[in-house]
Amino acid sequence: MPARRPPKLVVGNWKMFGTRRSSAEVRTLVRLLGLKRPHCEVVICPPAVLLPPFRQINRGSRLKLGGQDCHPLTQGAHTGDISAEMLKDAGAGYVIVGHSERREAYRETDQMVAQKAQAALRAGLHPIVCIGETAEQNEAGHTLDVLTRQLERSLPDLLDATEHAAFTIAYEPVWAIGTGRIPSPAQIEEIHGEIRRALQKRLGLQAAKSRVIYGGSVKASNARAILNLAEVDGALVGGASLKATDFAAIVYSIN
Ligand code: PGA
Repeated sequence: MPARRPPKLVVGNWKMFGTRRSSAEVRTLVRLLGLKRPHCEVVICPPAVLLPPFRQINRGSRLKLGGQDCHPLTQGAHTGDISAEMLKDAGAGYVIVGHSERREAYRETDQMVAQKAQAALRAGLHPIVCIGETAEQNEAGHTLDVLTRQLERSLPDLLDATEHAAFTIAYEPVWAIGTGRIPSPAQIEEIHGEIRRALQKRLGLQAAKSRVIYGGSVKASNARAILNLAEVDGALVGGASLKATDFAAIVYSIN
């Protein structure tokens, strides 16, 4: 029997925005999610220091929390870093790894991303592994090659061995992040289909448990067209996740 696809997943990536005053937005989001059951799981990934206060607000609600990055090791002399175990302890159930902003600003390689995803699984967090081509790679027609390579190298070996490990791939074209430009629905379908085929090749039946979500300039105005595509299992939302009403509109655009 073919494994059932998991429910869709909408993740808000707050990046380096928000303070404890943002608790008001989280309260609004929790209230909105309480009004009607969404057709997806809903996660926000605030800066790690906000996990403990937000955990007080989301308790018992439909909203889940995640981190934006983690160190590969459990603990150690790594000034400024946060481990997956620490995120879990602070209330996270998910963690984004390999976001293009980190790949670029901190020269994170696919190998480092794989180590972080492995750390997430070890800590019992659900890793959201980001991949995506740059504008230059896209224009040169190298999109699928780049994505296949990133996918192969950014996933930890542990995944092959861990039968029940759930994880998510976020396809985020770098040129679509924060720019208002997005690939056409047909392009998104094609690329997600290719990513899923690559996952199946690597993981076999187990790939059915993973999700392929889209990220890059997702807003309330375009969410319906993207999130209801057959190959799209959800979205990673940056800017539009900061305001509860905008984010909820994206969440409820899923049929
Ligand atoms: P954006 O960011 O929605 O603001 O384009 C998406 C992301 O970087 O994850």
